[in-house]
Amino acid sequence: MQYSALLLSAASVASAWPAQKPSTTVSIPNNAPAGAGVPLENFVSFSIEFSYFPDYAGNTSNPNTFSSNLLENIKTYSGSKPYIRVGGSSQDNALFVPTQTEGAILTFASATADQPSNLTYGPNFFQSYHTWPQTTFVHGLNLKYNTTAAHQALLDSIPYACASLRGQLLAWELGNEADLYAAFLGSAESRPASCNEAAYVSEWLNLTRSIRSALQTSCPDMAKNGSFEWYAPSFAASQGLSELDQVKTWNAGLDADQDLKVFASHHYQGVATNPGISLQGTLMNHTATIASVNYLANQSNSLHAQPSYPSDLPFILGEGNSLARQGAPGLSNSFGAALWGVDANLLMASKNIRRFHMHQGTNYRYQAWQPINTARVTKGTKAPYYGNVAVAAFLGDLTNAAKCPQVVNLPLSSDLQAAYASYINGQLSKIMLINLQDFNATAGNNYTSTSPRGSNTYSLQVPSSCNGKTASVQRLVANGSDAVTGVTFDGYSYNYELDNGKPVLLRNVTRGETLRAGWGGMSITVPDSSAALINFDGKSGGWAGW
Ligand SMILES: *[C@@H]1O[C@H](CO)[C@@H](O)[C@H](O)[C@H]1NC(C)=O
Ligand SMILES: *[C@@H]1O[C@H](CO)[C@@H](O)[C@H](O)[C@H]1NC(C)=O
Ligand SMILES: *[C@@H]1O[C@H](CO)[C@@H](O)[C@H](O)[C@H]1NC(C)=O
Ligand SMILES: *[C@@H]1O[C@H](CO)[C@@H](O)[C@H](O)[C@H]1NC(C)=O
Ligand SMILES: *[C@@H]1O[C@H](CO)[C@@H](O)[C@H](O)[C@H]1NC(C)=O
Ligand SMILES: *[C@@H]1O[C@H](CO)[C@@H](O)[C@H](O)[C@H]1NC(C)=O
Ligand SMILES: *[C@@H]1O[C@H](CO)[C@@H](O)[C@H](O)[C@H]1NC(C)=O
Ligand SMILES: *[C@@H]1O[C@H](CO)[C@@H](O)[C@H](O)[C@H]1NC(C)=O
Ligand SMILES: *[C@@H]1O[C@H](CO)[C@@H](O)[C@H](O)[C@H]1NC(C)=O
Ligand SMILES: *[C@@H]1O[C@H](CO)[C@@H](O)[C@H](O)[C@H]1NC(C)=O
Ligand SMILES: *[C@@H]1O[C@H](CO)[C@@H](O)[C@H](O)[C@H]1NC(C)=O
Repeated sequence: MQYSALLLSAASVASAWPAQKPSTTVSIPNNAPAGAGVPLENFVSFSIEFSYFPDYAGNTSNPNTFSSNLLENIKTYSGSKPYIRVGGSSQDNALFVPTQTEGAILTFASATADQPSNLTYGPNFFQSYHTWPQTTFVHGLNLKYNTTAAHQALLDSIPYACASLRGQLLAWELGNEADLYAAFLGSAESRPASCNEAAYVSEWLNLTRSIRSALQTSCPDMAKNGSFEWYAPSFAASQGLSELDQVKTWNAGLDADQDLKVFASHHYQGVATNPGISLQGTLMNHTATIASVNYLANQSNSLHAQPSYPSDLPFILGEGNSLARQGAPGLSNSFGAALWGVDANLLMASKNIRRFHMHQGTNYRYQAWQPINTARVTKGTKAPYYGNVAVAAFLGDLTNAAKCPQVVNLPLSSDLQAAYASYINGQLSKIMLINLQDFNATAGNNYTSTSPRGSNTYSLQVPSSCNGKTASVQRLVANGSDAVTGVTFDGYSYNYELDNGKPVLLRNVTRGETLRAGWGGMSITVPDSSAALINFDGKSGGWAGW
């Protein structure tokens, strides 16, 4: 029964997506070249806006099980739960009030503001760290408010934070994008325009040392070397905007106390409000993504080139997404942005940007999911989430060092095609093919009725060691790049409406395809605006008996 349903759907897919003329030869090396990217555990991680963390996680009497299920789905592929950084602009607008009973009280300047102008949080805020099983966090603290009263409020929060987060804390973070403080701040918290890297480092060291002293009193185990660690400096690292340089900040002695867990940077590919932003030109464009990621890789390489920079201190992204300013409607929330996410994440992984916390917030356009119903956005799994799942599936179980992949971007000549290979223990493990040619299902893309959606056929020249091997295929598909719903990975939907974010296998989507590598390699057709993951290791998505 299942078998014939599968054959039928495979046949209907073949006629709906006729093979078009375009084809691309992908030459896949026998081994990963030296310097190929090696992701850290939980490469697929999230950053959640501090003010919206209670929306995402709920609290101990009302845990958000939908969010929990979505995190669990990633673990199915990656072996452990994504790390959650709780921070962002609002961490730097937050004041701890020990007598407040509400978890957080947000003050908005207008009903349509994406973020509160400021917020206060109380001891019950920390309940939200206990709603998702086996989840580890980065807790964000306010560096921006540097009055004596604000410093005291921060230090007052430490006993509550450490008691709550003991055993679940990956690292602390002090300050969000401090390299933009001078440009954007109002009077009270402003740093002078002359604020330089040395002044920043001295302020950061001063306050982190005060926090350590507070821990020595309240949670001495968490003040010890190796337990007391930071995500820093968490700069926007924005070309043309940042007043502080990451390399100069390192050389000014940021790690004088040797307590950096990672060197964390932020990165967005574009800015939602900038003119000329489009899905095809800005996001579904491998050339544009390469330029953007190269800027980031340059920062990482420049840091690693400093004599004092330890070779084992990872460079990661603690925050980022497609388009800064919470994303653009019609672009950041679309399936095209999910395909961008696959391309950008794997490109970063290939360049040793070793973890990416994709940023989330209630009502944001680029969110992977909306955790609650609001007047502006319906609770639900959003298209970009499926990109996170596909990346996790490609990287596989990262908890097992013996299975850790090396990731390689395979150069292709078109802006609109991207390909990646992963190797485990020197053997080709997986290939990801991303066809970034825009197909706008709403507009019909002006395709003719006999050829509703184009495709690209990839001729894969695989290593000879793959000859005779059978590979399984998992597809990331939707009706078009503009789709904001109806997305599946490997035939599964994770929609809220179906089963609260748990995987639900849809019967109307093809899965279980296999490919066999012959002497001439193998070939696969990928519809425009979709991706295909080819697994040689038979580990994921194999359909027994097919
Ligand atoms: C816990 O969440 C529920 C539902 O959002 C809310 O009514 C309650 O006030 C929250 N508890 C605290 C302590 O914030
Ligand atoms: C908080 O934000 C509101 C609204 O923008 C503003 O009126 C108020 O002054 C702010 N409070 C503080 C302490 O900054
Ligand atoms: C806050 O920062 C300003 C500018 O760097 C500095 O002059 C002031 O001393 C700082 N205040 C505190 C309490 O650290
Ligand atoms: C160091 O921190 C203390 C409070 O913890 C503050 O009073 C002092 O002004 C800070 N100094 C600098 C240079 O930031
Ligand atoms: C902790 O690390 C610092 C380096 O920052 C070192 O000077 C100190 O001796 C270490 N303490 C212990 C107890 O190992
Ligand atoms: C892709 O981006 C590059 C670099 O920004 C640009 O030159 C090119 O025109 C873009 N391609 C498309 C199809 O928009
Ligand atoms: C980073 O970019 C700068 C400016 O384009 C260049 O001078 C430098 O060599 C690059 N550094 C690395 C490590 O690629
Ligand atoms: C898709 O097509 C529709 C209808 O023409 C249009 O409104 C929309 O802006 C298009 N979306 C994108 C991302 O190009
Ligand atoms: C489709 O594209 C052709 C060629 O660019 C153009 O002449 C025609 O007007 C387009 N049709 C629609 C419905 O947009
Ligand atoms: C996708 O397209 C199919 C076939 O045209 C249609 O039945 C289905 O409703 C579409 N799904 C979405 C989410 O638009
Ligand atoms: C497949 O089935 C789901 C759930 O019944 C439905 O929402 C979706 O529109 C269908 N997709 C297509 C492409 O027909």
